[in-house]
Amino acid sequence: KPSSPEEFWLFGYGSLIWKPPPHFDIRVPGYIEGYVRRFWQASEDHRGYPESPGRVVTLIERSFWETLGDEASETPARVYGAAYHIPAAHVGAVKSYLDIREINGYSIQYTDFHSSPSKDSARPSSIPKCMVYIGLPSNPQFLGRQSPQAVAEVIATSVGPSGANDEYLFMLEKSLDGLSEESGDGYVKDLAVRVRALKASGKANKKKTDAG
Ligand code: BEZ
Repeated sequence: KPSSPEEFWLFGYGSLIWKPPPHFDIRVPGYIEGYVRRFWQASEDHRGYPESPGRVVTLIERSFWETLGDEASETPARVYGAAYHIPAAHVGAVKSYLDIREINGYSIQYTDFHSSPSKDSARPSSIPKCMVYIGLPSNPQFLGRQSPQAVAEVIATSVGPSGANDEYLFMLEKSLDGLSEESGDGYVKDLAVRVRALKASGKANKKKTDAG
């Protein structure tokens, strides 16, 4: 029997939270474990340019992250986001959309997903393993440990084809606050506070680029 594409679940922890993939038919807020969300991925195609890369989130396996000496104090065990169900008929289209949109240096893994409590009786009671994009040390865009202040300084000034880098950070902060009661992320909030302070101090002049 020829193999046909199968439905899958995709976990979004970055821009997918506020900009869902095409063709999804169910969205479930919740979390995964065993990873840490950090702005340690260079973005040359969305929130920066090759000559002035921005910073976007990636997930790092927690066991690997523990070896990196991260100074950021907030390291909750859970990474909140949203799981999206992609029906079989659209698997090909969504996979190519994700490749174009995101794959600039990410690797795919499959992981357990836990949904946040909900009164929605239409919500599936259990969700199979979700596909996630993570940053492996071998990915060219993965930067390794970055101090929060260094990240904030890049975010405050970078712009790319998809818009300002700070807009990405503020959208992430806002959409995490809105996902569920417990989904706020102290690391993301701390970065947002730093970027606002840099902008208020006038130290954050957006990079001018011919391309944008
Ligand atoms: C996201 O969750 O928005 C995402 C992050 C990295 C790669 C693909 C998607």
